[in-house]
Amino acid sequence: MTRIFALCNNKGGVTKTTTTVNLGYGLARAGKRVLVIDTDAQSNSTYSLLGTLDQEVTLFDVLINGARISDAIMPSSQNGLYLVPSSINLSAADLLMASAAGRELKLTRALKQVSDFDYVLIDTPPNLGVLTVNAFMACTDVIIPIALTTYALIGISILETTMQELRENLDVPLPIFGVVANLDDHTRLSTDVLSAVREHFGELLFDSVIPRNIKVEEAHNQIACLFDYAPTSTGAVAYNKLVKEVIERAEGH
Ligand SMILES: Nc1ncnc2c1ncn2[C@@H]1O[C@H](COP(=O)(O)OP(=O)(O)OP(=O)(O)O)[C@@H](O)[C@H]1O
Ligand SMILES: [Mg+2]
Repeated sequence: MTRIFALCNNKGGVTKTTTTVNLGYGLARAGKRVLVIDTDAQSNSTYSLLGTLDQEVTLFDVLINGARISDAIMPSSQNGLYLVPSSINLSAADLLMASAAGRELKLTRALKQVSDFDYVLIDTPPNLGVLTVNAFMACTDVIIPIALTTYALIGISILETTMQELRENLDVPLPIFGVVANLDDHTRLSTDVLSAVREHFGELLFDSVIPRNIKVEEAHNQIACLFDYAPTSTGAVAYNKLVKEVIERAEGH
């Protein structure tokens, strides 16, 4: 069975994209077949994986124009890692899809056409609009990335309320698979926020806490795979550990 993770947090800049991309690389390098779906009009994961933003068929065409998702899937430079690219016109999706029948289920339907992946990772925008709701409906589990900065937990109640409403109204299980704490700079503040996150989420918090590490940002900006670009960096080591934890939680080994 394909495990479909939606990486969601309505707060901006909390490392949804970075975690999606590095999990994608890490899982693919562990021999898994991985599909990243970029549902954010900012197209950051598309750029990070492909280095360009001029794809002929994008998620917009799949969701709005009825294109086949298989026609949108692009290979990345990493063996086993594929991408459904985003594009800037996806920023109009909320408006364009507002009156479409079954608008919450467009991505679910599209994903029914793909079966040959072990993991699908859905990167989402920093809001709870129709694209994030599509990600919630299409996923088997949610991964919540959290930045260990001030206010980290404030937006979480909105996220949790939205997820609870979907569970009740649209009849989806929507379990939280795990919570990734990121941007740890070992200050008093991040240590305090980490304690609060651990208290709130308990066992759901992954043991691997990702440090703030310039190599992570550099790899992302240079369209490079962190595990090749800076394999011994604190960021790569922490992400490697996270990949192992994800596989262990998902597959039980
Ligand atoms: N471990 C890290 N160390 C240093 N910088 C990081 C780390 N992880 C992410 N960043 C940087 O933090 C910024 C925000 O990360 P990212 O774009 O992944 O967040 P996001 O949640 O996807 O943002 P948005 O809500 O805008 O989509 C980026 O510039 C990224 O390169
Ligand atoms: Mg992002």
